[in-house]
Amino acid sequence: MLRSAVMLRTAVLSLLVAAAAVRADTPANCSYSDIQGEWLFYSSEPTGDSSIQCDDATPMDTVISLSLQAPNTVVDTFGNVGTWTLIYNQGFEATVNGRTYFAFSYYTQDGEEVTSLCDRTFPGWSHDVTVRNWACIRGQKQGPSMPKTHRVRLADAAKAAKKYVNNHALIAAINARKESKFTAKAYPQHEKYTVAEMYRRSGGARSHLPQRPKAAPMTEEHQEIIKSLPASFDWGDVNGVSFVPPVRDQANCGSCYAFASMAALESQVRILTNNTQQPVFSPQVSCLTSP
Ligand SMILES: *[C@@H]1O[C@H](CO)[C@@H](O)[C@H](O)[C@H]1NC(C)=O
Ligand SMILES: *[C@@H]1O[C@H](CO)[C@@H](O)[C@H](O)[C@H]1NC(C)=O
Repeated sequence: MLRSAVMLRTAVLSLLVAAAAVRADTPANCSYSDIQGEWLFYSSEPTGDSSIQCDDATPMDTVISLSLQAPNTVVDTFGNVGTWTLIYNQGFEATVNGRTYFAFSYYTQDGEEVTSLCDRTFPGWSHDVTVRNWACIRGQKQGPSMPKTHRVRLADAAKAAKKYVNNHALIAAINARKESKFTAKAYPQHEKYTVAEMYRRSGGARSHLPQRPKAAPMTEEHQEIIKSLPASFDWGDVNGVSFVPPVRDQANCGSCYAFASMAALESQVRILTNNTQQPVFSPQVSCLTSP
């Protein structure tokens, strides 16, 4: 029960996110503590539709103050209470008093050096909870904030311009591994892209944690609980029956969260109905090109 409630929340969240126009992955790196706090949002007139274009030239004259508090509570000037969430380390969304505000965290990039200015946002969007009456917004956090700098690796230009080719040796090596849980295969349709395009399609640079958080030490109570668990479990193979929907092609926008949460929801329906219902939910994300 708990698990399906969490899954459902994830799906609903992705629908909320999907309502805003989403640019694919940005290199900004803003964490919870950078975003939590007092914000002023500057807004244009809420008279647009979802095709609204928001940039630095858009007049945003109305000021709204939102307090983003722990763990996910947002309070506006009038005391209305809502919820907020980070979108990965790239932006955040707050919903309060019938309106949703979504913006990407600000960053600058100079070659390989990315500076995240987490106390401000790029021009973003707000709309009412019926996804109408769109406005452009821009956020500015109150109080001191330190810019954060990190480096990204840029691909070698000559290599990046080459056509991508499937690595058949790697595919064979993966499939030769006894512990492989899946069968790798070549996708000829990818060979129309350059290496740089494939890199972008795969989500860009992987983030690296300088220090991985360590697992909590195992207690005797944990050991007891573990005894009742099977050594392995796979919803894709429960005595030969799969409850997992087929893999889908998300094409080239940063919509992994929408696809992943819809697939999780589809899987939950299959599990709850013993596969008698196999709906295909629509991951809705609108894409703009990456900045
Ligand atoms: C992103 O920020 C977190 C927390 O401030 C930091 O631990 C991490 O190393 C940063 N990631 C990158 C790629 O710099
Ligand atoms: C679930 O479906 C399988 C395959 O159709 C069937 O054999 C099994 O009896 C069903 N289980 C229940 C609890 O209905």
